[in-house]
Amino acid sequence: MIQDLRKDGAQRRENPDPHEKNRPVPRIILAMVSLLLIWAVSYIFMSHPNDDASLGDSRTMATLEGKPGAKAGGAVDGAQIYAAQCIACHQATGAGLPGVFPPLAGSEWVLAKESLPPSIVLHGITGKLTVKGTAYDGSMPSFKDKLSDAEIAAVLSYVRSNFGNSAAKITPETVKTVRDGSKDRAQPWNGDDELAKLKE
Ligand code: HEC
Repeated sequence: MIQDLRKDGAQRRENPDPHEKNRPVPRIILAMVSLLLIWAVSYIFMSHPNDDASLGDSRTMATLEGKPGAKAGGAVDGAQIYAAQCIACHQATGAGLPGVFPPLAGSEWVLAKESLPPSIVLHGITGKLTVKGTAYDGSMPSFKDKLSDAEIAAVLSYVRSNFGNSAAKITPETVKTVRDGSKDRAQPWNGDDELAKLKE
């Protein structure tokens, strides 16, 4: 008897057993989810993101083979190297940017004797440099580790025969001679001070 009472008390204190209520996912949500799914799957089939070759990158076999600037057939294209390496500063017209980047068009440094322009492109320049009567004080990067002799020859030949310039082409042999002759140099040329001497 006593035991029964206790049991009653214990039972009364207990929470009812939990049970699942009947709350189905609202139809509107189900409808939205299935619409989304249908859209996603059909999107995959209807869009062709990889079909248009013109959207791809413009790498050529030459770039993939690790020879930037080299055209099929092995000839080096000076215009292409100019566009890739020089245009940002010296501009497409070779006119430079007034006060910042000197012009290559009509520049006495570009048109100087054949060994000078390769010296400039191989090692770069810092400090004051006078071009066509205007003083610049910027810094021209060095390309000795970036471009081969053939590439420097091609880009300089391009520069010397475009933008209204007409001077003799520069051969890879000339660039090689200049490179070998100045291989101990680690610093860029110090503007007018050093380059004027090379001009003579
Ligand atoms: C980051 C900018 C920059 C790039 C890239 C650059 N140059 Fe220059 N270049 C300069 C600056 C600045 C000077 C002037 C340096 C000074 O004031 O001391 C200069 C000077 C020169 C000169 C001598 C002055 C003149 O105007 O004739 C030549 C030649 C030249 N650059 C050729 C080239 C060629 C060729 C390339 C590409 C291979 C090239 N530069 C890439 C900034 C650049």
